[in-house]
Amino acid sequence: MQYEQAQSMSVVYNLGLATRVPLGEGRTFTVGERTVAVFRTRSGALLATQAECPHQRGPLADGLLGGNVLVCPLHGYKFDIKTGLAVGHACGSLKTYTVELSDREEILLRVEDS
Ligand code: FES
Repeated sequence: MQYEQAQSMSVVYNLGLATRVPLGEGRTFTVGERTVAVFRTRSGALLATQAECPHQRGPLADGLLGGNVLVCPLHGYKFDIKTGLAVGHACGSLKTYTVELSDREEILLRVEDS
């Protein structure tokens, strides 16, 4: 993992080539002191959320992804990983992160300092 750029209140991490995350799946990355789940939808969009489910800390990167809706692998709660909002339950929302593709097809994840 490479430290790419620092600005006033955020850090951009280069997580490597986008192919590290297969289409329609997620992978967990550690950036600084936090873990983040990065997803690539079947259409190729990159999205990122907190790594653990707010219900009972299920590993969200292992969930089933259909469009932007992720199903947690432990108990099936659904989340819109683009907005972070819970879908059909009141368990709470996910923290989302800004993620984009570089000119070299690398995943660039922005993490706000907090
Ligand atoms: S841990 Fe995710 S739904 Fe229970």
